[in-house]
Amino acid sequence: MQEPGDAAHPGHRGSLGNGFHGMVASSPRIPLWGLSREAIGDILSEYLRGPGLGVGRLWIIGIQRSLLLMRKQQVNVGTLLVALTMATAGEAAEVKRMDFGKADGVPVEIVELTNGSGVSAKIMTLGASIHSLNVPDRNGKSADIVLGYATAAEYLAKPQYFGATVGRYANRIRNGQFELDGKRYKLETNDGPNHLHGGLRGIDKVVWKIDSVKAGSPASVVLSHVSPDGQGGYPGTLKVTATYSLSDKNELTVEYRATTDKPTVLNITNHSYFNLAGDAGSSDILGHRLTVFADAYTPVDSTLIPTGERRNVAGTPFDFREAQTIGLRVRDGRDEQIRFGRGYDHNYVIRGQAGTLRPAARVEDPASGRVMELLTTAPGVQFYSGNFLDGTTVGKAGRIYRQGDALCLEPQVFPDSPNQPDFPTARLDPGQTYTNTMVYRFSTSR
Ligand code: BGC
Repeated sequence: MQEPGDAAHPGHRGSLGNGFHGMVASSPRIPLWGLSREAIGDILSEYLRGPGLGVGRLWIIGIQRSLLLMRKQQVNVGTLLVALTMATAGEAAEVKRMDFGKADGVPVEIVELTNGSGVSAKIMTLGASIHSLNVPDRNGKSADIVLGYATAAEYLAKPQYFGATVGRYANRIRNGQFELDGKRYKLETNDGPNHLHGGLRGIDKVVWKIDSVKAGSPASVVLSHVSPDGQGGYPGTLKVTATYSLSDKNELTVEYRATTDKPTVLNITNHSYFNLAGDAGSSDILGHRLTVFADAYTPVDSTLIPTGERRNVAGTPFDFREAQTIGLRVRDGRDEQIRFGRGYDHNYVIRGQAGTLRPAARVEDPASGRVMELLTTAPGVQFYSGNFLDGTTVGKAGRIYRQGDALCLEPQVFPDSPNQPDFPTARLDPGQTYTNTMVYRFSTSR
């Protein structure tokens, strides 16, 4: 496991203390002074691989490292200097820290990661959440593509899990009960008869600690939280970290890691609500086109607990193996599963080997051209079409959120796994490290 501060985890170097309010690091723009892109790319990446100093990477070290390559590729010193000048004068990749009010009297902060390609992500310490995510459309115009509140207090007052890290067990556990090593555990039931998203005070409702922030490419922030033994009914002291990194390739990576001191169950995911049109509330997601890289999903009962079956998507409204417009079948009342979910609220069995990073879904907004690909190591992904947004909450841009205004794609182990022997296990033992990694990759279509 890579503990905070460990050498295998460069994100932890360059950790900044409190009081830090902004830093700028270089990101490459590639000039082509008679050189192949590859040659300059190699020189720059060698340079940028440098010693991990966020601010003002040392030219001299960059030059030293590049000299070897220069010789190999017969690049002259002048060209190298031009390349390095362009690199340091390029658009800034920044990390900023700012206050964001209080939650239950505890100060909340936002860390803003910005890359050199027009993407920025605001990560909030309350719930280790994605507060905002600005992404350019096909004309280069940036807009915020996630739902959220304008103040920290609203996240506690009206929990919708906007952008949040949810757990200890994201999604549902039947009747809020499970058995582990012969012992029965009782959790809070906060969703009809069932337990949902870690209960009344899940890890989305606590203020996480900022372990480190790092500028450069990728820019990153590491947050941590310790959930005490017995919290919400779960056994074991759980130590969790959430690492958010934003690369110059417009990839936002979220990596969750956790350890326990007693056998326990867990399922941690990110619960962002996406609307690729931007500034959600101006239009819904029913015109978005979705692909889910899955041949089966796990059907549910009327309380949204899986029946245990893995059902083939072929011939059902759940078939997203080829891109489909979400709105086309979201109201298909002939399908009992759509009725149970009031639309889509189901876990898909992602193709390929869990534990390896592989494509889970792709979403495209034909109007803006924004495309989001989701890759994950998790075995499943919950596709939720925002069915319970009911117009009673006002979002950060001052608009109300209504049904279908956003969609969630939550990489996870399957719902209710602790009670389903045929589902991938959600068990974590002392000495093991739980991980769940998800990559949101942004691009545009024509
Ligand atoms: C669940 C929905 C729930 C939503 C907000 C989703 O993960 O599947 O049923 O309404 O979260 O809590």
